[in-house]
Amino acid sequence: MTDPANLLTEPHAETSERHVALITGASAGIGAMFARKLAERGCDLILVARRKEKLEQLADEIRGEPGATVTVLPADLTSPADLARVYEHIKKTPNLEYLVNNAGFGLLPKFSESEIESQNAMAQLHVMATLNLTHAALPKMVERNRGFIVNVASVAAFFQSPSNVVYCSTKRWLVSFSDGLDVELTGTNVVVQALCPGFTYSEFHDVMKVDRRSVPENMWLSAEYVVDKSLKALGDGTGKRNRKYLCIPSWKYKLVVLSSKILPRFLRNYLGAARHRRMQKLGLTEQM
Ligand SMILES: NC(=O)c1ccc[n+]([C@@H]2O[C@H](COP(=O)([O-])OP(=O)(O)OC[C@H]3O[C@@H](n4cnc5c(N)ncnc54)[C@H](OP(=O)(O)O)[C@@H]3O)[C@@H](O)[C@H]2O)c1
Repeated sequence: MTDPANLLTEPHAETSERHVALITGASAGIGAMFARKLAERGCDLILVARRKEKLEQLADEIRGEPGATVTVLPADLTSPADLARVYEHIKKTPNLEYLVNNAGFGLLPKFSESEIESQNAMAQLHVMATLNLTHAALPKMVERNRGFIVNVASVAAFFQSPSNVVYCSTKRWLVSFSDGLDVELTGTNVVVQALCPGFTYSEFHDVMKVDRRSVPENMWLSAEYVVDKSLKALGDGTGKRNRKYLCIPSWKYKLVVLSSKILPRFLRNYLGAARHRRMQKLGLTEQM
């Protein structure tokens, strides 16, 4: 019997062309891990992020493996011109097998006390970049009747808390967007996934200058664990497995998400706000 893991990466039978994976936010954390894992599965890579030198470093590491072609495409996806450039690049990549919309960041200030520029940048990156790049990729995927799109959301998509309003809202949009596409793509072999990690070791909290002690050690996930769970949940892309548009790595976070569905809103928000106040008192803060 064919191993489903191989089905994911077998070159296109008719053309023997190699599969291509484009990953946004590939210069660090979860995105860099997607790049490594998809290279291991035999994909050629297109790596997108702002820091060219970090992308080059990762590309050199991956090119060390035989056969892998890696293209570095530096871009600030909050810039309409850069986004348009990546959009066109995808349009010219007919054998795109994976699109991983992963680039993202968090913010600390309350919405009412924040700079509008940073909130706009977050909405632009989480929402508009994902919307545009998915729009560039999907027509060819539908035509080829194959392909995988991973939209990296968060467990935060199921909650709201002070200081995280736009983060939670844009991550919620990513889940809803993926849900809608999954409905629209029923009957095709194109798979869309909203990946919802909990707290994960990466540069995310360093960028925000957040103290990791605000979260118990046993709640942290590794980027490798998150990516392995995502790729496994994508299935074999033949439509034979149950399609699941939502991937929540770890049973602990599945319970957390379940709690968001069964607790009444006032209790959920009260607990969120109480936790936020406690963290502030301790001089710590949180975001996932
Ligand atoms: N870590 C967590 O606890 C956690 C939990 C749930 C969800 N997530 C989500 O997982 C995704 C990946 O985060 P991570 O944890 O791997 O964080 P990370 O290590 O900080 O990586 C974020 C990536 O996004 C890129 N990026 C940021 N702004 C960008 C922009 N304007 N244009 C292009 N690329 C940009 C960064 O590259 P450059 O700086 O080089 O541009 C970097 O490669 C994010 O969407 C995040 O919201 C993370």
